[in-house]
Amino acid sequence: MSHIDELHKRKTFGIVSHPDAGKTTLTEKLLLFGGAIQEAGAVKSNKIKKHATSDFMEIEKQRGISVATSVMAFEYRDKQINILDTPGHKDFAEDTYRTLTAVDSVIVVIDVAKGVEEQTEKLVKVCRMRNTPIIVFINKLDREGKDAFDLLDEVETKLGLHVTPLSWPVGMGQRFKGVYSLYEKNLILFAAHGKQEAEEEDIFRITDLEDKLLDDKVGKSAADELREEVHTIVSVYPPFKREDYLSGAISPVFFGSAVNNFGVRELLDCFVDIAPNPLPRQTEERVVTPEENNFTGFVFKIHANMDPKHRDRIAFLRICSGTFERNTNYFHVRQGKNMKFSNPTAFMAAKKSVIDEAFPGDIIGLYDSGNFKIGDSLTEGEVLHFKGIPSFSPEQFRFVNNTDPMKTKQLNKGLDQLMDEGVAQLFTKEDNGRKIIGTVGALQFDVIQYRLKHEYGASCDYEPVNLHKACWVSSKNAAALKEFAARRKKDLAKDTDGKLVYLAESAWTLKMAQENHPEVEFHFTSEF
Ligand code: G4P
Repeated sequence: MSHIDELHKRKTFGIVSHPDAGKTTLTEKLLLFGGAIQEAGAVKSNKIKKHATSDFMEIEKQRGISVATSVMAFEYRDKQINILDTPGHKDFAEDTYRTLTAVDSVIVVIDVAKGVEEQTEKLVKVCRMRNTPIIVFINKLDREGKDAFDLLDEVETKLGLHVTPLSWPVGMGQRFKGVYSLYEKNLILFAAHGKQEAEEEDIFRITDLEDKLLDDKVGKSAADELREEVHTIVSVYPPFKREDYLSGAISPVFFGSAVNNFGVRELLDCFVDIAPNPLPRQTEERVVTPEENNFTGFVFKIHANMDPKHRDRIAFLRICSGTFERNTNYFHVRQGKNMKFSNPTAFMAAKKSVIDEAFPGDIIGLYDSGNFKIGDSLTEGEVLHFKGIPSFSPEQFRFVNNTDPMKTKQLNKGLDQLMDEGVAQLFTKEDNGRKIIGTVGALQFDVIQYRLKHEYGASCDYEPVNLHKACWVSSKNAAALKEFAARRKKDLAKDTDGKLVYLAESAWTLKMAQENHPEVEFHFTSEF
């Protein structure tokens, strides 16, 4: 099969949700359909339980789980589906943002009772910035929840999405009878007793809602309610057009219950029909299309080995074009050197296996002894820098101090490698060379301290530093930037790439700096 045929088989996506909405459960049901796992409970939840935020063993355990569940691939209806796992915990939001650069579409899971929650809002915002096609799955219909129309309103206002329902619930909670698929024109009855998928005899084809079969199956009053609601849907929401979904202009919505495996097959079947194949990727130099013959790919995630005796890491590479082959020399653009890989790994559910070839849309794991950093590109020789893998302005800061002077080398190496992995960001102050760690969440500080000790034998402690935000600065006018740098020397630092960063003590000082230096641009992501 040619690489073009292979790429047309692939659908690479991520499931995003606020913790507890049902992401793990839905993932598991999808894998069951694909035959990638045989029983429920095989996918471990990759979430850090609320009570365990300071339990390091829990963090280590979760790290192990998150390697196993980073990518889960399965085959369904002749397609290869790659699901990328996205941590739901807010302290790992940056990991999730980066993972979203490697997908071509997402499914957003929302709890019918809780509606749109904070973490979902943030993640969907990142997807919208990139016009990623989004399908919404409203989960837990077996429980009482919000009114379906109110939920659609909430999705539109809070997530900024334009929606069109492709399935519709008949009742909810105790009165939940099933869903009507507007996409397939089917009524699927909910069998509360069973945790398996709908049996064939539970699916009724109803092209005309006036059909008396509907009354027979759900009762007259529920049938009339459904008729009225579908009438409203057709008059209020736009008809579904695949091109609108693909451009990110419209998001189809499905209703169901993941734990009961209800509405999941309808979601998957529609996903397979409409979700995009591997999409082109933007680089600083040009757009790379998956159909190109030459191989290209970028690293979006790095995972350190759990065993401290083996310091190697796994770099996760998204293939963007061409065919990747084992034991072939590829060009590491940042390092300007050729490298080949003898054990590239593919992930089929929880199993890993060495592969000989991989195609656009695939995610492979490359064993790495410290050559890779997040955002690195591999090519067949062309100099390309993939865009869309920025660092975000951190919001929590601490000075880091070495508490074991005999282990300075280990500390520096450990810090460098943890920063390459994207655990946090390191800034070195311009005036006194002190190091500041910036993170999105507080949990990372504990993770860094623990891992420095256990993996590098180095010790550090932290000192509070009063900062509001770090932002990257640039200017078209070199003299203006020089003047800014001279005036604000004590508030400046360099990031690990040597880029100039302004450390603002408060929202007010940031505002003043912006007003006093109109020619200087302040950036809230490292990519500008
Ligand atoms: P997450 O990955 O998004 O964090 O959520 P997860 O799938 O772990 O689901 C969170 C909880 O919601 C789980 O219960 C799960 O069983 C439940 N759940 C998922 N889908 C449905 C559904 O359709 N209906 C109902 N009623 N519950 C659902 P738990 O008690 O936290 O865990 P467990 O002990 O059941 O595994």
